[in-house]
Amino acid sequence: MTNAIEIRHLCKSFVTRRRTTRVLDDISLSVKAGELVTLVGASGCGKSTLLRIVAGLEVADSGAVLVGGRPIAGAGVDRAMVFQDYSLFPWLTVKQNVLFSRRLAANLHDNLALERGAEEERARKLIALVGLAAALDAYPSQLSGGMRQRVAIARALMSKPSIILMDEPFGALDAQTREVMQDLVLDVVAEEGTTILFVTHDVEEAVYLGSRVVLLSPHPGRIDTIYDVPLTRARSAAMRVEPEFVALKRSVMERVRETVGLSHDRSAVGA
Ligand SMILES: Nc1ncnc2c1ncn2[C@@H]1O[C@H](COP(=O)(O)OP(=O)(O)O)[C@@H](O)[C@H]1O
Ligand SMILES: [Mg+2]
Repeated sequence: MTNAIEIRHLCKSFVTRRRTTRVLDDISLSVKAGELVTLVGASGCGKSTLLRIVAGLEVADSGAVLVGGRPIAGAGVDRAMVFQDYSLFPWLTVKQNVLFSRRLAANLHDNLALERGAEEERARKLIALVGLAAALDAYPSQLSGGMRQRVAIARALMSKPSIILMDEPFGALDAQTREVMQDLVLDVVAEEGTTILFVTHDVEEAVYLGSRVVLLSPHPGRIDTIYDVPLTRARSAAMRVEPEFVALKRSVMERVRETVGLSHDRSAVGA
């Protein structure tokens, strides 16, 4: 079967006036359709840059990103992104926010034009899926942080993307809300079959959500370790205290700490 995402030998440097810094070095990673892979690593190791390249918002210096077997050319409706800040339109209701992205995409791609009734129906279904059926006509200012991220997820799903790229989407939420949102993401994957690449600095979150956890080491960002998560696909809160879970979480955390002390060929590129 074709991989949903295939990242091949990706390299990326940022050039500033004084130096060239290699941020990503020879990153290769395949994600299967319907898989949820989490990406962890020390701050500044290039997680967001990698995600932005896969989204088509940033261009790699070399290497390739294939989606459904084809090289990407810029951003596309097949890939939606969810960020930490709730980027909702404050003057639109929950339903309008979810519908709006779809309208935008439909304008850009004529073949996406949907019958209005079907569009509304899908918006309602997704809003219900994220647990906001009662808040359909509320405005973002009336919602909590967790509720706003629910809207952002529903909005991301509206164009039926095959892939959702999530960059620390729950970083601003309290611990309890985070756990509820994590289960929501798992429900979404089960319901919609979406492939997810999920960046987080929270190792527990990474282990709880991922079928695999990819650890990047910094300076330059490289794939350090890929952990297979030894849990069944259906996760539940009780798993957080199971010995396998706790042991994996501990070893990933230890390795993250070790990688902070590593610096590969920092001097190799212009430093
Ligand atoms: N547009 C840019 N210009 C120059 N440097 C950048 C740019 N974006 C990111 N960087 C640098 O690239 C490195 C990786 O950043 P980032 O991908 O945001 O890391 P992470 O998300 O893992 O914290 C950091 O050192 C950051 O300062
Ligand atoms: Mg980041």
